[in-house]
Amino acid sequence: MDMQNAPALPAVTRREDYHPPEWMVPEVELDFDLDPAKTRVRATLRVERNGAHREPLKLDGAGQQPVRVLVDGVAVNNWRLEGERLVVPLTGEAHTVETEVEIEPEKNTQLMGLYASGGILCTQCEAEGFRRITYFPDRPDVLATYRVRMTADKARFPVLLANGDPVAQGEADNGRHWAEWHDPFPKPSYLFALVAGDLQANRDEFVTQSGRTVQLGIWVREADLPRTDHALHALKVSMAWDERVYGREYDLDVFNIVAVDDFNFGAMENKGLNIFNSRYILADPDTATDYDYDAIAAVVAHEYFHNWSGNRVTCRDWFQLSLKEGFTVFRDQGFSADQGSPAVNRIEGVRGLRAAQFPEDAGPLAHPVRPESYIEISNFYTATIYNKGAELIRMMSIILGPQKFRAACDLYFQRFDGTAATCEDFVRCMEEAGGVDLSQFRLWYAQAGTPRVQASVEHEGGRATLRLAQHVPPTPGQPVKEPMVIPLKVKLFGAETAKPLTDERLVLLKDPAETVVFDGVVERPVLSINRGFSAPVIIESDRSAADLGFLSANDDDPFARYEAMQQLMLDTLVADAVEGDRSGHEAVVAAVANTLDDAERDPAFVAEAVLLPSESFIGDQLSVVDPEAVFRAREGLRAALGGKLEERWRGLYDGEREPYAYTPRAKGLRRLRNVALGYIAASGAGDADKLAFTQFEAADNMTDRMGALTTLASGASDLREAALDIFYNRYRDNALVLDKWFQTQALSSRDDTAAQVAELARHPDFTLANPNRARSLVGAFGVNQRAFNGASGEGYRFLAEQLIALDKLNPQTAAKLLPPLGRWRRFDAGRAKLMRAELERIVATPGLSKDLFEQASKSLE
Ligand code: PHE
Ligand code: ZN
Repeated sequence: MDMQNAPALPAVTRREDYHPPEWMVPEVELDFDLDPAKTRVRATLRVERNGAHREPLKLDGAGQQPVRVLVDGVAVNNWRLEGERLVVPLTGEAHTVETEVEIEPEKNTQLMGLYASGGILCTQCEAEGFRRITYFPDRPDVLATYRVRMTADKARFPVLLANGDPVAQGEADNGRHWAEWHDPFPKPSYLFALVAGDLQANRDEFVTQSGRTVQLGIWVREADLPRTDHALHALKVSMAWDERVYGREYDLDVFNIVAVDDFNFGAMENKGLNIFNSRYILADPDTATDYDYDAIAAVVAHEYFHNWSGNRVTCRDWFQLSLKEGFTVFRDQGFSADQGSPAVNRIEGVRGLRAAQFPEDAGPLAHPVRPESYIEISNFYTATIYNKGAELIRMMSIILGPQKFRAACDLYFQRFDGTAATCEDFVRCMEEAGGVDLSQFRLWYAQAGTPRVQASVEHEGGRATLRLAQHVPPTPGQPVKEPMVIPLKVKLFGAETAKPLTDERLVLLKDPAETVVFDGVVERPVLSINRGFSAPVIIESDRSAADLGFLSANDDDPFARYEAMQQLMLDTLVADAVEGDRSGHEAVVAAVANTLDDAERDPAFVAEAVLLPSESFIGDQLSVVDPEAVFRAREGLRAALGGKLEERWRGLYDGEREPYAYTPRAKGLRRLRNVALGYIAASGAGDADKLAFTQFEAADNMTDRMGALTTLASGASDLREAALDIFYNRYRDNALVLDKWFQTQALSSRDDTAAQVAELARHPDFTLANPNRARSLVGAFGVNQRAFNGASGEGYRFLAEQLIALDKLNPQTAAKLLPPLGRWRRFDAGRAKLMRAELERIVATPGLSKDLFEQASKSLE
């Protein structure tokens, strides 16, 4: 495998070096003789010289050798290899170039290109996997139509799928059969896909707004068919939503989704043939939690929405990745918000941003939404590209307002349909259709780092003055920043009357410091700012605990109530972690008690609002993270809330319930009840473990079962082992559920978690070869702040060892799990030294992939 031979200093690709392709490839024909051991691929490329130049045709390749090369039907031998590139001299303006290669899918452990997963042959080409299948200009600005022929053993691979529409099929010799597919829409090679396997489809139809009928199919192994209804339903709802909200209609006669167990990411939007990690397809109440159900709908929607934002309009180069990913995340967030509670959806989105993107933006791997350079593009499928990218689209939608934003999207789709576009193209459409100047806004694409905004209000003689100041911290390669334009939704509430004193106002903060005046403010105002999280920034305000408690009760925007509560909790927890000051407990208890009054009306919201910030988010507030102090502070406040409000939690626990259904209300009640169980356990009540175990045994759905198991897994009773054993024995044959078993233990708050995790890594069911399994243990452990950052450094050593082993199989997945080691600057000197030592050990490993090299070496800088 060539990854193993990566040079000591791998090459850097830079955005400024972009040049248009020398040769275009308007048409491709692929002929696959499929076999897991040896697959022969014949590719016929119609190539056209692009512009006046005399350059030869250069085709990317990786891991294969050309068996033969033909130009215009004649075998040639004047080709050469430059590194892994195939260079073919050509004299004319247009030619037909044919290549033949052999590849070995069953040996492909990195899961890029053509590989085998549980007896299914499938492909993953984004970003640069197509070159592992055949020689091709493997860059997103070379768009071709594809005709694909597959021949395979009929018994092992009765189903043969590819992009576009099926054209023909037939029998071949030796028990083999063939199928041909044609995709009429020009697409880049990263959207190519094929699947061969013994699959069954859950089928349906969708009639588009213009009356065309689309055949839908979700393809899985026969045994999994009963768990595909939710995904199929989500697909139909997504198709209707994109028509209604964005005017986007599906364009082929078939839309297929295939689920495979071994997959590096969540799912892939290949044209007409999405391929999914099975965890984002398979669900039934017995095996999937409400959270899983939500995630499945969101990912199905996301991949479907890519058909326009990504496929019909694609990216010119990989620096523009957020053009499709940020926009598509924004679209799937809009979809999810429309399915249930918009406030809860926004809370989840912001929580995710703070858990993954803020730390990335504050650490050694910080990069702009449109990066300037990379070593390995796979490392840039990040929370910044996806989630901060989505926030950028959201800010533009706020600045434009809904009508103009929709007009701008229409303009973008119409102008760039069938082409490979840039982030700049998108912003220009926003400007033109929105009638706004986004010059300063473009800094959001160029500058990394989370802006900080200081906000304070003065009140004098009927006038409130809001003082704002912004600061964008330095990030790697960007020591000095320019001020950004920051859209802040603000509103003032009267401290006495608890009534709004103003309408919600959109303030565009543009200068380093600005003041905003509100007149007619007759009582002391309390500031509600960044409402709905209108900008992805950190607000630093001097609002008192009393004012935050007031907002958590009285703000008329539920998201703002949540934010006020979080800030109140955070201030309290930081005071404890830093100075052992627990005087803030009382205010938090009062605010939570007050919020619980709403439990009947809006259980889903209340369940979110009463949750404490995560340990790592608390750690992010400290100048030096003290994981033990953070843990103690958080446990202390949990115990106070549990104990002081025990009656309330018990009341909720024993209160309203609904039979299992995946509806917003039933979901909310389940969530709240599981949160209540957690607080009862935190109170130290003697019967908590029994309560949890009873729930565990009686549960008729995975949400309640996991809620109970999560509480037990952090506890000390014998019932913990009993529950874990029962769970294991019941689900040992279901990989996705077994992942939960590993994950819960890796996330446990027990003192012995690091040791338990090390032991679980030797469990017969643990394997690094399956990315979901690797993430469920190694990934989960990395985000367990206290367990991972034990002062002995055993957690760091464990992670480094796992990553070095995983890198040999699957560099992409290994690199994704590295970031916890890169937080060394945030910790004390002792821990920092231990973490650096592990990073250095990784960098010095012979044969390291460029994926892991880039992450580890950047983390040391
Ligand atoms: N493009 C995929 C998505 O957003 C993610 C992905 C990237 C999947 C690379 C596989 C490989 O949904
Ligand atoms: Zn995507």
